[in-house]
Amino acid sequence: MSSLCLCLTSSSFNGAIAQLERYGEYIDMAEMRLDLLNPDERHKALKLPQITGIPLILTIRLPQDGGKWGEFGESEEERILLFKKMLESGGWTFVDLEDNRLMADTQAAALSSGVRIIRSVHDFQGSLLNLPVAEISGQIRRIADKGYIPKIATRCTGSRQLLTLARTAVSTESVKDKVLLGMDEYGIPSRILAHRFGSLWTYSSAAGGPGEPVSAASGQLDPETLTNLYRFRDIDDSTALYGVTGNPIAHSLSPELHNRWLQDSGLNGTYIPIRSDDMAALVETCDIWGLKGLSVTVPHKKKALSLCDYADISARSIGAANTLLRGGDGWRARNTDAEGFLKTLPAAMNLRSIEELNGKKALIIGAGGAARAAVYALTKAGMKLVILNRTIEKARHLAEETKQQWGALSPESFSLLEGGVDLAVQTTNVGMFPDSSSDPIPWWNPSGCLLVYDMIYQPEETVLLARSRGVGINTKNGSGMLEAQARIQFELFTGRKAGT
Ligand code: ATR
Repeated sequence: MSSLCLCLTSSSFNGAIAQLERYGEYIDMAEMRLDLLNPDERHKALKLPQITGIPLILTIRLPQDGGKWGEFGESEEERILLFKKMLESGGWTFVDLEDNRLMADTQAAALSSGVRIIRSVHDFQGSLLNLPVAEISGQIRRIADKGYIPKIATRCTGSRQLLTLARTAVSTESVKDKVLLGMDEYGIPSRILAHRFGSLWTYSSAAGGPGEPVSAASGQLDPETLTNLYRFRDIDDSTALYGVTGNPIAHSLSPELHNRWLQDSGLNGTYIPIRSDDMAALVETCDIWGLKGLSVTVPHKKKALSLCDYADISARSIGAANTLLRGGDGWRARNTDAEGFLKTLPAAMNLRSIEELNGKKALIIGAGGAARAAVYALTKAGMKLVILNRTIEKARHLAEETKQQWGALSPESFSLLEGGVDLAVQTTNVGMFPDSSSDPIPWWNPSGCLLVYDMIYQPEETVLLARSRGVGINTKNGSGMLEAQARIQFELFTGRKAGT
């Protein structure tokens, strides 16, 4: 199993001790970043090994390696002296030295104090992962062959680069003592799945907060999130892996939901966010990790369907997949959006069952991916639909496919809505944060509607929902659907019912 290492990022020694205390229960080891301490505080770090009993990495990083040494005019000679002084005082487990510097004296001091040497390669340009896997692996082996621990920390700027990192991990599997990690959002899986990448440890840093320094490197998570949300310290060879992909993905609520349900079910699994800009590369990466199930969100649902070996009727009819399941015979595409949406309707409309939707009339605002799921679900439930969209051709296509009515998203469609509708479903992104003051259909009066349903959940109440509620109409935002489709997905992933 990989260890969890906390980078001490404070500029004061007492601040560093406070970080150790705050995260003590979550971490296995810590890295003392002497370059981040104020110059007059650095000597205090001599006491650190006596204060804490956990393994410690000693690091004094240069600016080209993401550090701050030299900001106050400190020289390389002073850095080497500081290394020597610290190492000679004892108590350190590892020392991190740049691979591109000889540092013979520091190395000798480390060896004579029994401190293991990490030789690190930092790439802040993101060019390392454009090299062939064989070349990167060769670099790792060359460092390991000299008896050092190779550490590669490189910017990871897209799905192709993440794939290269995953392949490098496979090709250097025989190098047991190494650290391989991708920085930035695309590299986050390599931090959470450090065990799968064959890394001895993952780096984490304080969550930040008023007056606190932020993470030591882009993409670093805090120890509490790694432990409590992703159960980092339980990840082993038998941990089932799941994830959610999209672009962007950082604010997805899915990891919170799925990880909670995994924990409640007592399953050995973790569910991680995987940003993607190239679904083909991502699916290949998931194959390497043996990922069992993948949730897919904007903008990859169509592409996800085209990459699968099999697709069920829901995904084929909607023309998009929000769920990929990996079996022995390849990837299967499903779409749980329609079913999730339909499940939330009867209660919100004060109906006893989905059957009561039969014959009722609905207005669908929009004709994109989300609208397709709603149209598929409501047509199946026997509703009569009017589909209105800004681009009228798209409304026509969707309506003709499903034998429904269509029109422009403008007052000229007024006559199509005469006599009122029982349900209105808003599927466009008009009114979504940050442009929360827009109304996609200001000319329409919701009177008589049983429910106005807006698939947006940020803000919680859109302008359309607020003015509908203002005239006494039931309203619902998209958070219920988000959770309902995730619940169905969880059952498909694990065969278990999602908890509360
Ligand atoms: P999703 O998968 O979220 O549905 P999508 O497939 O890109 O995303 O569809 C976006 C929907 O929002 C479309 O119906 C789009 O209308 P067009 O087909 O005319 O593009 C609609 N939409 C986006 N911006 C809009 C705007 N400013 N006014 C009206 N409709 C808008």
